[in-house]
Amino acid sequence: MTVLHTEAGVFGRSHELSARRHEQVVFCEDDKTGLKAIIAIHSTALGPALGGTRFYPYADESAALQDVLRLSWGMTYKAAAAGVHLGGGKAVIIGDPSTDKSEALLAAYARFVDTLGGRYITAGDVGTNTDDLDVIGRHTRHVTGRSVAAGGSGDSARLTALGVFHSMRAGAESVWGAPTLAGRTVGVEGAGKVGRELIALLLADGAEVCVADVNEAAMRRVAEQHPAVRLLGAVSTAPVDVYAPCALGSTLTSTSATEIEAKLICGAANNQLADPGVERLLAERGITWVPDFVANAGGLIQVAGELRAAAPAEVEFEVAGIFDRCRDIIAAAKAEGIGTGEAANRFAERRLDAIPRSL
Ligand code: NAI
Repeated sequence: MTVLHTEAGVFGRSHELSARRHEQVVFCEDDKTGLKAIIAIHSTALGPALGGTRFYPYADESAALQDVLRLSWGMTYKAAAAGVHLGGGKAVIIGDPSTDKSEALLAAYARFVDTLGGRYITAGDVGTNTDDLDVIGRHTRHVTGRSVAAGGSGDSARLTALGVFHSMRAGAESVWGAPTLAGRTVGVEGAGKVGRELIALLLADGAEVCVADVNEAAMRRVAEQHPAVRLLGAVSTAPVDVYAPCALGSTLTSTSATEIEAKLICGAANNQLADPGVERLLAERGITWVPDFVANAGGLIQVAGELRAAAPAEVEFEVAGIFDRCRDIIAAAKAEGIGTGEAANRFAERRLDAIPRSL
């Protein structure tokens, strides 16, 4: 039988992203609690599909589907590049976490996760935290990122920031010849969980740091903790050596690419390029971009370690390995005359291609 990949349907949507289509997309609805969630399993080729649960007030269901398909596809590449034995998955709960989140709703969601029998393992993401994962963990064992008290490895921000820091060191080596940020000015966009940890690492390395956050409380907190940090209205186009996007994605646009003064871009935010063409614009201006899914894999490496009960020191060592991976990817991009994003995709695809494609 011929299967048509129509633009309008789920199959068509998956097809638009890449030749590697999604294995399974599950729509979850629970009338009692008002739960509406979508779980997308992109690939289990390298292991169970792991990815966080995003709780977000999507404009409509179509936007939620688009997001979960894109994010789960990205997780396949992130896991492949990180060298962990995990596939790519993601889930979205449609709603406003500040008003729609309840224990009953999270429990209903967890029961759906459980029906997948471990093909999908969940974790935290925008709109969910370790407390929520503790609740989910009472209804399914297919969860990571719970609090240490509940048997998990806790918040992943510290190791995510550590991975970004090592990636930035690799970028600095390529741009300035030494793997350190000492003496460089780094503009951190977003002083949230990851941004704050990154600021501390950068200061300890001898960098001059400036920060911008739309949230005044976040800015005040940085000022209290680190009086040496300069507070700015925006850092992406400020006169800095390094721009570190640690807030939201899509900040690298065809417009910002022409205005950025930094020679190096490296941060935690997912999907930093507004469209793939931006990478070329950055390269033409001699700006090195460290691909987001390689730089921000520290949290994923942490939960992969949690699943196999690895010692914290072992996990930290693996996160430090992101330095070598970034160095190799940047070197391959230079040698092959391609962008770093393309080099990172090829790196991940080599690992995926070594595995037979069927379930
Ligand atoms: P967070 O929510 O704790 O912090 C984000 C910060 O960015 C907040 O303080 C917010 O006020 C600020 N912000 C939002 N829009 C902004 C804008 N336009 N300009 C400046 N600041 C803005 O999030 P978290 O956990 O620190 O994550 C940061 C980024 O890293 C997110 O994009 C996330 O998806 C990504 N990431 C996080 C991981 C983790 O382990 N937490 C793992 C991998 C990626």
